[in-house]
Amino acid sequence: MPKNTIAIAADHGGFELKQALSQYLHELGVEVCDLGTHGLESVDYPDYAMEMSKWITANPDGKGILICGSGIGISIAANRFSHIRAALCHDSLSARLSRQHNDANVLCLGARLIGIETAKDCVSNFLSSKFEGGRHAGRVEKLSNM
Ligand code: RB5
Repeated sequence: MPKNTIAIAADHGGFELKQALSQYLHELGVEVCDLGTHGLESVDYPDYAMEMSKWITANPDGKGILICGSGIGISIAANRFSHIRAALCHDSLSARLSRQHNDANVLCLGARLIGIETAKDCVSNFLSSKFEGGRHAGRVEKLSNM
């Protein structure tokens, strides 16, 4: 995986936002690995969380974006995998804090709840923010051991 690559996946509810964010990521110079879905036909969000889980297994330092209608189902599904720390975010602050405090490696978005500009804001904050470590490191470590 080139260093500057992010994986993205969505169900049908998130398909259009996935397409728009993929374009935005290209404009930012970020390579996008599109794990589907590739159309508006109804699909099941757990399948796309599973695809993301496989991708993060293959790319342990990689980051991903998962989208469904509310962001809820796909974030629940993603957090079933112990190597994923998925954060459902609705604004730039939560996206930034998910990186700084929780070392989130997957950003989840609800396409039916936020607009494209807010989604872009979430993505840019998620990508530009770094894990602060320190007092947060032990807490994140505990997540891995649960
Ligand atoms: C699909 O209609 C919708 O239920 C799904 O995208 C998501 O919102 C589930 O949490």
